Amino acid sequence: MKTYALITGASQGLGKALALECANREMNLLLLALPNSGLPQLSHFIKQHMGVDVHHLELDLSVVENYYLIADYVRNNNLKIQYLINNAGVLSRGFFDALDDRFVLKQIAVNITAPTMLIKLLLPYMKSTNNAAILNISSMASFFALPKKQVYGATKAYLTSFSKSLAKELKKDNIAITIICPGGLNTTTRLCYQNRILSWIPRKSVLNPEDAAGIAINAMMKRRELIVPGFINKCLLVLDKLLPRFIKDSLTSQEINKFPAGKLQKLSS
Ligand SMILES: NC(=O)c1ccc[n+]([C@@H]2O[C@H](COP(=O)([O-])OP(=O)(O)OC[C@H]3O[C@@H](n4cnc5c(N)ncnc54)[C@H](OP(=O)(O)O)[C@@H]3O)[C@@H](O)[C@H]2O)c1
Repeated sequence: MKTYALITGASQGLGKALALECANREMNLLLLALPNSGLPQLSHFIKQHMGVDVHHLELDLSVVENYYLIADYVRNNNLKIQYLINNAGVLSRGFFDALDDRFVLKQIAVNITAPTMLIKLLLPYMKSTNNAAILNISSMASFFALPKKQVYGATKAYLTSFSKSLAKELKKDNIAITIICPGGLNTTTRLCYQNRILSWIPRKSVLNPEDAAGIAINAMMKRRELIVPGFINKCLLVLDKLLPRFIKDSLTSQEINKFPAGKLQKLSS
């Protein structure tokens, strides 16, 4: 019986790269993204040119009812989900007091509630599949205290912590959970521009989504627990442990002063 990889946020950026990487590895796909994001066209392209079966669902992952609609779709179409890839995420940069309330609620829903509930609702189907695996896309932001990324970083810290704990429980079911914590990625046009004007070390740490997707899927297939892609990102993590507090504080205050107070930058568009 055919098995499928379910990928959220598959219409663009890292999610689209993950979809193409999985299709290249002959995985059938169930792709998810918001309506009007070009998902039907991407699904059609993959089906026509890459010889795998592709389903797609256009749903808002900040809406609780939609988690149940996804589980219903899987059950009604008898799809055997072998891989669940929680990639959809809402990025942001801005001072907390300037963030729009509804934006914060949506960010928490997409980054925390959606992956948690999709795992919860799809686990029963995955338990009956051999060598099932979950890939959760977290971020380097989950390791640091970052002004202007306070909610975003905290949502990713949740995902990292939740995944590590759940991985221990799911060993008995032979379901692996891999967490990938990328640094900067050249996904949206805005991020590509912002990444280009970074100082040397952060600029060199930025990865293309295609490279990050290859690393992520390799890690999932090898059932690795946590991956930080890129040599410089790994070094930055070690440096964070070694650098004295005052140097880190000085780097942080430079970041605070980069943009005027109160200015919100939504990075996902
Ligand atoms: N870019 C980076 O520098 C970076 C670094 C580290 C980690 N990450 C993580 O990598 C993942 C992908 O990031 P990206 O840069 O590829 O982001 P992106 O280009 O903005 O894509 C985000 C994806 O999530 C989907 N999405 C957003 N809100 C949604 C909602 N309410 N319902 C359903 N789908 C929704 C988007 O769908 P639509 O196209 O329909 O809007 C899109 O497919 C995220 O989890 C992010 O936190 C990114």
